[in-house]
Amino acid sequence: MTRHFFLFLLLLSTAALADDGSRLWLNYDLIKDAKQRESYAPFTKFIAVASDNQTLKIATEELQTGLLGLLGKKIVTVKTATTSGGIILNVNKNAPSSANISNEGYEIYTEKGNIIISSKSETGVLYGAFELLRAIQTGKSLAKLSITSSPKVKIRMLNHWDNANGTVERGYAGSSMWKWNELPHRVDPRYVLYARANASIGINATSINNVNASSRFLTAEYLEKIKAVADVLRPYGIKVFISVNFRSPRTLGGLKTSDPLDPEVRKWWNDKTKEIHQYIPDFGGYLVKANSEGEPGPQDYGRTHADGANMLAEAMRPFSGIVIWRAFVYNADPNGDRFKEGYAQFKPLDGTFDPKVIVQVKNGPIDFMPREPFHPMFGAFPKTTLGMEFQITQEYLGQSTHLTYLAPMFKECLDTDTYAKGQGSTVAKVIDGSLYNAQYSLMAGVANTGSDVNWCGHPFNQSNWYAFGRLAWDHTLSSEQIASEWIRMTLTQAKPTEQKISDMMLKSHPIYVSYTYPLGTSHMMGESHHYGPEPWLAKSARPDWTSVYYHRADSVGLGFDRTGKLSNALQLYSPEVQQKWGNPEQCPLDYLLWFHHVPWSKKLSTGRSLWDELCERYYDGVVQVGNLQKTWESLKADVDPEIFENVKGRLKIQEKEALWWRDACVLYFGEYSKMPIPKPLTPPQRTLNEIKKLVEIYHLR
Ligand code: GCU
Repeated sequence: MTRHFFLFLLLLSTAALADDGSRLWLNYDLIKDAKQRESYAPFTKFIAVASDNQTLKIATEELQTGLLGLLGKKIVTVKTATTSGGIILNVNKNAPSSANISNEGYEIYTEKGNIIISSKSETGVLYGAFELLRAIQTGKSLAKLSITSSPKVKIRMLNHWDNANGTVERGYAGSSMWKWNELPHRVDPRYVLYARANASIGINATSINNVNASSRFLTAEYLEKIKAVADVLRPYGIKVFISVNFRSPRTLGGLKTSDPLDPEVRKWWNDKTKEIHQYIPDFGGYLVKANSEGEPGPQDYGRTHADGANMLAEAMRPFSGIVIWRAFVYNADPNGDRFKEGYAQFKPLDGTFDPKVIVQVKNGPIDFMPREPFHPMFGAFPKTTLGMEFQITQEYLGQSTHLTYLAPMFKECLDTDTYAKGQGSTVAKVIDGSLYNAQYSLMAGVANTGSDVNWCGHPFNQSNWYAFGRLAWDHTLSSEQIASEWIRMTLTQAKPTEQKISDMMLKSHPIYVSYTYPLGTSHMMGESHHYGPEPWLAKSARPDWTSVYYHRADSVGLGFDRTGKLSNALQLYSPEVQQKWGNPEQCPLDYLLWFHHVPWSKKLSTGRSLWDELCERYYDGVVQVGNLQKTWESLKADVDPEIFENVKGRLKIQEKEALWWRDACVLYFGEYSKMPIPKPLTPPQRTLNEIKKLVEIYHLR
């Protein structure tokens, strides 16, 4: 062999090694351990599928592709199984309901030497096929399979904040994945991978455009385009929703008003809804941001949110679709408390919404802060279906440069007890509909997808899309299990490496909170771009868009007093929650400054003063980022080289920015506390003015 040829082979093999992340967790790379591959051989003689239904075809092909990649084995399909040793896909529409499996649920078990994937629906079989592949990808034994699984939440949805011009609001992974200028004539093959990825974690709905919506999406031209997307997603069990602009009857229909009680307006929506169904017969429904941050809505005409939502629900009555109405509303009141706004506007409307309306509530009362107490609406609306809105894209959580695994944050909210109907009334039970017996249930996540080759920017951000879907399917899964699955499917099956990466992921959210928003501080980011720290921000178009409105630092102390002494937002919670958070002596430190204005010298349960504890946490956060870097460095030989370098670079940025946050916040708050950085910590090596300039860069034209 010539030297050149040898080099060529070497290059080829390293090229094959490099993973650009485009395949997400469905990479189906060959399992390295030959013994393990052998252990799956007894079930790889055939795939039996009786019908040629499109969804079943997709399930079959997915199994074939997956098993070819993972086991290196091409598997034939047959109509019926005549021997043992295969996988049988079985739709049993008449399965007794006593089987305790919902329409989308599935069973996987072994019988007479075959693996049976059975469901009442084709989509359920597809979900089961992905579960079987996940079992293999994560190295489980198939010998005594017995899995029964049904989704806990009915509508498991991504909300894209994508605009018609190709930008994404708060998107950190390139431009929009939807190519509106190409559709409907060219359908990007990436939509298929998007559909597969979503189906693999049970996501069954997607709203394709920004909640700050353009009426353009309701024009015939765009409905043609959306139809083309819906046609791709349908066989994967995914329904399409459209975010609508409430003013559309005026802007599109040429009417004089968009008043929801005006007969002409109602007729316009009825007709538009019918028209949409001609393109998309199984249209999921509307998502609406109204009278929020300048968006139009029913209040423009003296009407309520319920008037607006119910008008759309009426238009939807002949169809299966629904209306999702967002509760993210707040008025600019310098003396008020934004914390209470959504509750205050919606509480009088409880019981007045049409059954087809779901009110979608952000996990916390402000706006996706890195750590928020659960929204007080959860548990307090027995007569309204409330859905959850999480943010998968990391607007305030390090965007695409900080490693922040969000499952623990999602779970912290879902597992919190609202005590609405006594102990055990968790937020999750409100959301899955079990607490108040709701007809619908919804968990939505603001998507983090974009045109970047790896979809999400930071390779680890993929895990947040994955975690969101898994938790929407089953909120009882642990963050550990989800991390382990994602690592094994995406990065490595080697146990020691997996454990180290899992440890990094599980620590990452607390670390992020530590160097940005420790002890329950919130909303101190750079104005409008929301990048980097700006705790000194005191002037903006609205008082509740500044930082000082939230942290309330003064010569006495730090934090927003939400007890009876000031805003009394605590009163919106049940007595048990008020008791837990209302007493500064007992309030968990992670939530302390959300509810209390605490003196700088006040001794906390850690034995340190508030000031010392604050500094300690900011400094520790930076140290921990250093530890993340060290761990990652130690894994160089164990993970794909392209992913390794990508993450390594981003960790460097994270380190630099953690320092930025730390220095900005301790120097700024130090001007109020007038206390020195406690020893042995070393004071920042730069001045506050120098740091202020860093954020100003982002405002330069
Ligand atoms: C945040 C975010 C906006 C977004 C809004 C919303 O305020 O910064 O970009 O439009 O939330 O959820 O509607």
